[in-house]
Amino acid sequence: MRAGGAKFITFEGIDGAGKSSQIEFLVRQLVERGCSVIQTREPGGTPLGERLRDLVLHEAMDLETEALLMFAARREHLAQRILPALAAGQWVVSDRFTDATYAYQVGGRGLAEDRFRALEAWVHPGFQPDVTFLFDLPAEVAAGRVAQGTDRPDRFEREQAEFFERVRAAYLRRATADGQRFRIIGADRNREAIAADIEAEVGTWFR
Ligand code: TYD
Repeated sequence: MRAGGAKFITFEGIDGAGKSSQIEFLVRQLVERGCSVIQTREPGGTPLGERLRDLVLHEAMDLETEALLMFAARREHLAQRILPALAAGQWVVSDRFTDATYAYQVGGRGLAEDRFRALEAWVHPGFQPDVTFLFDLPAEVAAGRVAQGTDRPDRFEREQAEFFERVRAAYLRRATADGQRFRIIGADRNREAIAADIEAEVGTWFR
C-alpha cells in the first residue's frame, strides 16, 4: 500500500495501440474522484529525460546504448518525480515504464535478458507499478494507425511489422510472468469499449 492509497499506474503496448486517449480518460476519472494525479511519460518526464528522449527516438545508436539511456532517463524520472509524488500521496499515471524496455529492447531488438534484469534491479530494486494496462492488438492493425497519425515517424515507428510482433509477444510474456499487476486490454476495439474496461477497473479501486 502506498501513501494515502494512491497508485502508480502505467500504460503499455506497441506503437499505434491507442493508449493516449485512454490515459486522458483515466486521469479524468481519478481527478473526478478527488485524487491528486500526475500524468507523465517515458522516455521523458523530467527536463533531462525529455532531452534523452529526443536522442533515443532520433539518433542511430548501439542497442546497449539505447537500453542504458532508457534506464538513465528512468532513474531521473523516479528520483525527481515518481517517487516524491507517491511519497506525497499523489497518483502517478505514466505512458510507459520498464515493461517497454523489456518489450522493445529485449523482445524487439534482442538485448540479452540478463543485461535487462541487471539494469532493472539497479534502477528500481523491488519497485514496480501497482497496475499496468497492456494494450494488445495485432501489429498490422497498429501500423495502420501509426501511418495515419504521423508524417515524421521516429526510429521505432519506422520499424517493420515483424519487429512489433516481437515487441507484442515480449509484452505478453512479461504480463504472464506478473499476472497480478497486468490488465490486458483488447485494443483492436472501439474507444468506448476500451474506456468501459478502464472505468470498470477504476471502480474496483474505490470500493
Ligand atoms: P511513445 O511515447 O509511446 O511514442 P509516441 O509519443 O510517439 O506515441 O513511446 C516512444 C517510443 O519509445 C516507443 O516507440 C517505444 C519506445 N521505448 C522503448 O523502446 N523503450 C523504453 O524503455 C521506452 C520507455 C520506450
